[in-house]
Amino acid sequence: AQPAPGQPAAHAAAAAAPQPTRTITILYGSETGNSQALAEGLTEKLKAKDFNVTVSSMDEFKPKKIKEVEDLFIITATHGEGDPPDNAIQFHEFLLGRKAPKLDNVQFSVLSLGDESYEHFCQTGKDFDNRLEELGATRIYPRVDCDVDYDELAEEWITGVLTKLDEKQESQQPADVTAPTPAEQPIYSKSNPFSAEVLDNISLSGKGSNKETRHIELSLDGSNFSYEPGDCLAIYPKNDPGLVKQVIEKLDWSPEQTVPINKQGEIRSIQEALTSIFEITRLTKGLLDKAANFFNNDELAKLLSDSDKVKQYIDGRDLLDLISDYPPKDLDPTTMMQWLRKIPARQYSISSSYQANPDEVHLTVATVRYNSCGRDRAGVCSGEIADRINPGDVLDVYVHRNPNFKFPFDESTPVIMIGPGTGVAPFRGYIEEREELDLKGDTWLFFGDQHFRSDFLYQVDWQNWLKKGYLSKMDVAFSRDTAEKIYVQNRLLENAKEVFDWLERGAHIFVCGDEKRMAKDVHQTLLQIVSEQKNVSLEDAEAYINQLKSEKRYQRDVY
Ligand code: 2AM
Repeated sequence: AQPAPGQPAAHAAAAAAPQPTRTITILYGSETGNSQALAEGLTEKLKAKDFNVTVSSMDEFKPKKIKEVEDLFIITATHGEGDPPDNAIQFHEFLLGRKAPKLDNVQFSVLSLGDESYEHFCQTGKDFDNRLEELGATRIYPRVDCDVDYDELAEEWITGVLTKLDEKQESQQPADVTAPTPAEQPIYSKSNPFSAEVLDNISLSGKGSNKETRHIELSLDGSNFSYEPGDCLAIYPKNDPGLVKQVIEKLDWSPEQTVPINKQGEIRSIQEALTSIFEITRLTKGLLDKAANFFNNDELAKLLSDSDKVKQYIDGRDLLDLISDYPPKDLDPTTMMQWLRKIPARQYSISSSYQANPDEVHLTVATVRYNSCGRDRAGVCSGEIADRINPGDVLDVYVHRNPNFKFPFDESTPVIMIGPGTGVAPFRGYIEEREELDLKGDTWLFFGDQHFRSDFLYQVDWQNWLKKGYLSKMDVAFSRDTAEKIYVQNRLLENAKEVFDWLERGAHIFVCGDEKRMAKDVHQTLLQIVSEQKNVSLEDAEAYINQLKSEKRYQRDVY
């Protein structure tokens, strides 16, 4: 076929060929946006091939519609102990439940994201994959389970799925469809991070604090990155050079020797590979299994036969412990780089407004320090920032959009923010942005930490915003200044009537910070407030809170 005037050849070719007829449905279950981003990426690629695609989060998909679906691609994360992410709960319950319909006409494939260090690795993806088969659907491409460092495998799955669809398409239509290339990627991304210069790095913790919380400012100049309040900055940290040195010495290797670092055969010195590429601070069962094949160490093989002992062993130990406790015989550096996993980026909630500080990004980072098995240790990224990063140094970063933590920008929507400790970070960015946009209106911050004197993070900022009217209310809870502990949820409860009034007026509630204790207790307190103020049962209160969630008026960024 001749290209029509003014039309690129590829489009013309596609137009000449019969259009793909089947409709593709992509559903994602996402906690932090990774699955969503992958689902959107796949959608783009399919659209570029002229497929008819709909993409949505699982909670926006009417479960009963599953019967009408033809090609189904599921991309899902798994939460904590094998649970589905929040926005996948209902669909998961429906599909695995007794009322799920037969799906003989459905073709599907599943991509699951997870973290190998959890026992129920990728469980939600596995659940969907098994259940779809059980319901009679046809798997057109095998499920892929990805660890934290998911890019390569996810890309393989996407390519695999696209190839399968193309094959099907070709078998249905003789014409050769040349797909236009997908839209160009921005230059800096997760796989090509930007080297951001550190502009400032100061301690926010006062004298006498039990904590070490830092405020760091980075330059995004030249990166083309922008961000919104609620987004995160991901940092690729470098391992502690002292630890790297000890590992290399223990193995009797030479730091300058080069090794391949990926399947493409790129090489680095051992020193560089163990500093910047591979994770050496964390052990997992999967890692030990792989390592054991190369260690020639009977004791390690014995340990691995007892999964309880393995669990106990890996807790709080690192690669140096492993090679000291179970010395490998003639371990070849090249093989080690094959079973170590890549250093995953660490995500921090951004604590600045892009509008107010174009080309800058600020973070609030608590330094993690602990002693384990007789050795003082620090978090890889927070330790690097506290001990080795000075203004003028660079950190490799990319912006991670968080679609599940998005603030309203109008004066009529009341906003309640609950952020003890470093959980206050995104709220600083949000209020700074409201000031930049000159938005007043009802905004209420609940902040908590140990001591008023040493831990009131950004106290001066909050007081200024209160004075200027960009923050309208603030309640603080310092847990270790009084005989009895006071937490943010105590402050919520003291203000139950007003909190409920705000909710009834359409308030959005945001919770950021510790998940296991704080966010859980705050959630209980919100249930209690609704139940008491509305005078309804806890179950009805739960329905009320669920409604808030589905209207995206109750959003959490908890870790
Ligand atoms: P604590 O460490 O004195 O118990 C920020 O870390 C603040 O969160 C600290 O004041 C800490 O108090 C507090 N915190 C600890 N557990 C909490 C919980 N379950 N709910 C709310 N805040 C909590």
